[in-house]
Amino acid sequence: MQVETLRWRDGRLELIDQRRLPLEFDYVACEDALQTARAIRDMVVRGAPAIGCTAAYGVALEAQRHAGEARAQFDAALEASFQVLAESRPTAVNLFWAIARMRQCHAQTRSGSTQAAAEALLQLAKQIHIDDIEINRAIGRHGAPLIADGARIMTHCNAGALATAGHGTALGVIRSARDAGKRISVVANETRPYLQGARLTAWEMVQENIPVTLVTDNMAGHLMQQGRIDVVVVGADRIAANGDTANKIGTYTVAVLAERHRIPFYVAAPLSTIDIAIPDGRGIPIEERDPAEVTGFRGMRWAPEGVSVANPAFDVTPAALITALITERGVISRPDAAKIRSLFGA
Ligand code: MRU
Repeated sequence: MQVETLRWRDGRLELIDQRRLPLEFDYVACEDALQTARAIRDMVVRGAPAIGCTAAYGVALEAQRHAGEARAQFDAALEASFQVLAESRPTAVNLFWAIARMRQCHAQTRSGSTQAAAEALLQLAKQIHIDDIEINRAIGRHGAPLIADGARIMTHCNAGALATAGHGTALGVIRSARDAGKRISVVANETRPYLQGARLTAWEMVQENIPVTLVTDNMAGHLMQQGRIDVVVVGADRIAANGDTANKIGTYTVAVLAERHRIPFYVAAPLSTIDIAIPDGRGIPIEERDPAEVTGFRGMRWAPEGVSVANPAFDVTPAALITALITERGVISRPDAAKIRSLFGA
């Protein structure tokens, strides 16, 4: 099954509304950069690579709306779109990577017509989209050999087709291992508080008939202690230059547990998730989200009024806890600054 997380249809961007999954499967349309930024902020679309692709289309939409206007107006509208999209979510660096690429394309098309610039920006957004699928397939090809036949694989959050343009990063490794004939099974952590594991990873695995067992996050240690997990594979939202990795809140806990139980802990991510400008994990901005996600869910409240709440959406796993980083350029074991630099050919 091919999940089309985002698609360009009739001059509009369409996104699977991930807030409704798995109960409803529907697309919502975005027609300008502001609507696109809101869709990212409100989690219609989420997952680092998917956010990057979406932002690129958000810029393209705005360019299309203003194509034919005078250059100064067109440029001002584009600048506003870069700003509003950059403010949508802070942690996934793919967002800023995609905006930077669109900004560069805009700068390179300044001497031509605004129509030509809008067309070039749309072509680049489409290319970023197509490339992401290919990159995930390459991550899957490199990662599949690390997964043994019969492996019971724990994953956290959703780093699947829904978090990317297709195939997925962590779930891409799992899909590719299955496609290589390995009889694997998945343990999906529920992923409190937003339930990406229960709602999205479980849904993706069920769609594809990959055996999946859903557990709450606090069951991970028990399962590892009982010898019921062979390997952990997760995605990433931002990887610092030394390999420290920000991913969904709770990933760090799983990494510590994996080390304690001598279980390999793999991070699967594209190079666009590596932020070479940040030396280590301390510099990674961590999104703080609405307390309502912790005090209840979809209108139901279970915590008392007046309680204070912390809701950091991501945590940082130190590089020392990562067995290997799986990228489209290959696998680096025990990632560090030098090995990560070598990925970029520097
Ligand atoms: O808050 P979310 O749902 O956007 O967080 C997503 C994650 O943390 C994923 O694990 C990460 O983006 C990897 S995506 C392939």
